[in-house]
Amino acid sequence: MIEGKKVALYVTGGIAVYKVVDLMRELIKHGAVVRVAMTKSASEFVSPLTFQVLSKHAVYTNTFAEDDPSVVNHINLADWADFSVIAPLTANTLAKLANGIADNFVTSALLATTNPIFAVPAMNENMYTNTVTQENIDRLKLRNYMIMTPDVGFLAEGYSGQGRYPEKERIIHEFESFIRSHSDQLPLKGKRVVVTAGGTKERIDPVRYISNDSSGKMGHALAVEAWKKGADVVLVSASHLESPSYINRVVVESARDMHDAVLKEFDQTDAVIMAAAVSDYSPDKMEEQKMKKKDELTLHFKKNPDILKDLGQKKRDDQTLIGFAAETEELLHYAEKKLNAKNADLIVANQVGEKDRGFNVDKNEVTLLSRNHPPRTISLREKSEVSVEIIEWLINFMN
Ligand code: CTP
Repeated sequence: MIEGKKVALYVTGGIAVYKVVDLMRELIKHGAVVRVAMTKSASEFVSPLTFQVLSKHAVYTNTFAEDDPSVVNHINLADWADFSVIAPLTANTLAKLANGIADNFVTSALLATTNPIFAVPAMNENMYTNTVTQENIDRLKLRNYMIMTPDVGFLAEGYSGQGRYPEKERIIHEFESFIRSHSDQLPLKGKRVVVTAGGTKERIDPVRYISNDSSGKMGHALAVEAWKKGADVVLVSASHLESPSYINRVVVESARDMHDAVLKEFDQTDAVIMAAAVSDYSPDKMEEQKMKKKDELTLHFKKNPDILKDLGQKKRDDQTLIGFAAETEELLHYAEKKLNAKNADLIVANQVGEKDRGFNVDKNEVTLLSRNHPPRTISLREKSEVSVEIIEWLINFMN
């Protein structure tokens, strides 16, 4: 979402300025090109040189330091950016922006900005909740501003309250949502995609269960990628991994829970990606109390529903089904059998049981198997990159 975007980062003077260095690095890591402008108060907290070295570009601090006669710097920065980010946004700069005051580089550039502006206010709780600050926020929200709600937590004053600068993960996720809301060319816009993830847990008693090595990383990466391409995503996950706040997540534990959650969504869904490692069996009864130790233990299992197979039987022509085949041997042979037996449109076959790929690691090598096409192998790479290829396949197939 952020990759390739030109971001003007405006830094105003609050104690959170030191955290914005990290935010800038995160934006750059996500592929943004960042140019920084700071108010005089911001540079009291962190030197512009820090931002200059890390952004590999001069930092704008003075409206009158027009070093390049061919441009007017603050107008040039405003016009150059695809998106503007203000972090932290102080009550003082907020008030100036709400009233059209342009008395320094930052406020002048922002008054000249027509692109969308994303702001991260951070201040003392009483300053934040003051009616005048809230009125200023409301005024800016009516213009091209998105203003984050600060966190509640430990403030620089030594007590807890609202106004805290949020964690960078939250800022990045909300910024990604903001960018997505300004992109109208996304190929999965208007499509609903359900993704399952993780290894299901089948309870033996209240404290014990049977599961498998799946971490949920592949499914979570697919959900994020489908979302980035514009889809409304429902992530049905049995994984303990966190997911971005913009992903609509249904938490499940057992195969049966997952079956019910996916089937509930299926009618209004355009595509289902079954990346979960669904346990094939569950204990035929769950003990209500923790089982006591005995010399021997025999458990009886019953077969779980096959979710993908059930979906394959119900599937309409306008719905797409993607399954996975995790195999330790004869990968393509078993994958092809699953493609037909489960009436899927694509099977993503992956070798499991090796240390560098598959379950519970960050990378995977997969082979895509569909009808009427030769198998296509996607060589070993990050699961986020594998998910780009799978979602690309889905987009082409749906078109
Ligand atoms: N799957 C499912 N419901 C199950 C078992 C599997 O929906 N009860 C889905 C998985 O999410 C995956 C595909 O079916 O997309 C293949 O799963 P896999 O575990 O590789 O194969 P199984 O069908 O369980 O067959 P086997 O264990 O014999 O390989």
